[in-house]
Amino acid sequence: MILLTGSTGFLGGAFYLEAFRRGEAGKYLLLVRGANEEACRTRLARNLTKHSDGATAELAASACGIIPGDLASLATSIDPRLDQVTRIVHVAADTSFDSRTSVWHINVDGTLALAARARRMPGLTRFLHVGTAFCVGESRHYEMVQEGPPPVHGAPHINEYTRSKAAAERALLAGFPDMPIIVARPSIVAGHSRIGCQPSSSIFWFFRLVDATGIVPCKKDGFIDIVPVDWTASRLHDLLNKPDLKHKLYHVSAGLGSRTTWTEFADAFAAVGHDSIARPYAHFDYRAEEGWAPFNEAFRRAFPQRTAINRSMAMGARKYHRFTAQDVAFDNSRLLEEGFEAPPQLRDYVGVCISNPGVTIAEQFMEDAESLGVAAAPAPVLNAAA
Ligand SMILES: NC(=O)c1ccc[n+]([C@@H]2O[C@H](COP(=O)([O-])OP(=O)(O)OC[C@H]3O[C@@H](n4cnc5c(N)ncnc54)[C@H](OP(=O)(O)O)[C@@H]3O)[C@@H](O)[C@H]2O)c1
Repeated sequence: MILLTGSTGFLGGAFYLEAFRRGEAGKYLLLVRGANEEACRTRLARNLTKHSDGATAELAASACGIIPGDLASLATSIDPRLDQVTRIVHVAADTSFDSRTSVWHINVDGTLALAARARRMPGLTRFLHVGTAFCVGESRHYEMVQEGPPPVHGAPHINEYTRSKAAAERALLAGFPDMPIIVARPSIVAGHSRIGCQPSSSIFWFFRLVDATGIVPCKKDGFIDIVPVDWTASRLHDLLNKPDLKHKLYHVSAGLGSRTTWTEFADAFAAVGHDSIARPYAHFDYRAEEGWAPFNEAFRRAFPQRTAINRSMAMGARKYHRFTAQDVAFDNSRLLEEGFEAPPQLRDYVGVCISNPGVTIAEQFMEDAESLGVAAAPAPVLNAAA
């Protein structure tokens, strides 16, 4: 039996659907938040519909075992099916860039609650914990980051989300040294290589905004590390299934071979006919005296209307640009040396991600606004006379 958390999310949904397509769904026990099993299956099916057709989603949602509940409930759960679990895939997390408390409660306390229950699983052979490559914290300019232990408490971070993910890894290592833990750290998961932004547009609105504004707070020869959700989910299956892994920690990332330079990024968007006000892109440093002014000016040229949604989008873009400004990519040699499939490059699937020309950047942004902690739009003004 394989226990999976996070199946109602972006990456967990892709992971579970692949398990279903491999004919393995019957081995899975899914922890899903919901009042009862039926409500959980309905939530699961709704998420899987974004990754597949409705009939497949319904079938997949009925093919696994379900434990209704929250991560925190696991520590004391007496559900006997948990005693049969031999492998765990822990994908669930609070991925909000805004939260100050729930990221700690879910990402650290929730992970520890799961690990505490896992300790009492007699046949456990693998605990695959999904972290994030950005748990390395903030630095002015990295090149290629190698896998290493999570940074110490007090290391600088861009937000509480990455700080909590680093803390979760530290807590697992310290509290459960004998557990068969493998950590997978994806980089930036965006789009699906065949169905584009259908499962989630997530950060993709931002990539379109980067191209539309034609400016990045990065070095001229800088780059970004992006991987599609289906490739990432497949690598999690690899890391779950291969019995004799050489390491305990893996980047699931584009790495040297598939990272995207900003020139390649601009070329990829140009090749699929995306609108931009400036290619090649301009480069600036928001930490320099000029601050964000070059970006703000480019943003106003690309989005001239001074609407609430545009102001929120600019705020959201500046939050993501703090990450792009690190010019970072994550070495994936460990993953490739295991014999696993190399990631595609962004240019190979960017077309399918923007193939729905009717969807505006602002509409895609609305889906992401809440987790970024920026107001999506003001509440509609109702006609008092109505
Ligand atoms: N997306 C990326 O670019 C990216 C990059 C690097 C690493 N990661 C990591 O990949 C994992 C998945 O990310 P994602 O983008 O797929 O996130 P997501 O779409 O926000 O999904 C999060 C999932 O976690 C579940 N969850 C949250 N709190 C929970 C709790 N207290 N108890 C049980 N389940 C809970 C959610 O359930 P509900 O539906 O009930 O809310 C949902 O299924 C995370 O660990 C994240 O840190 C993601």
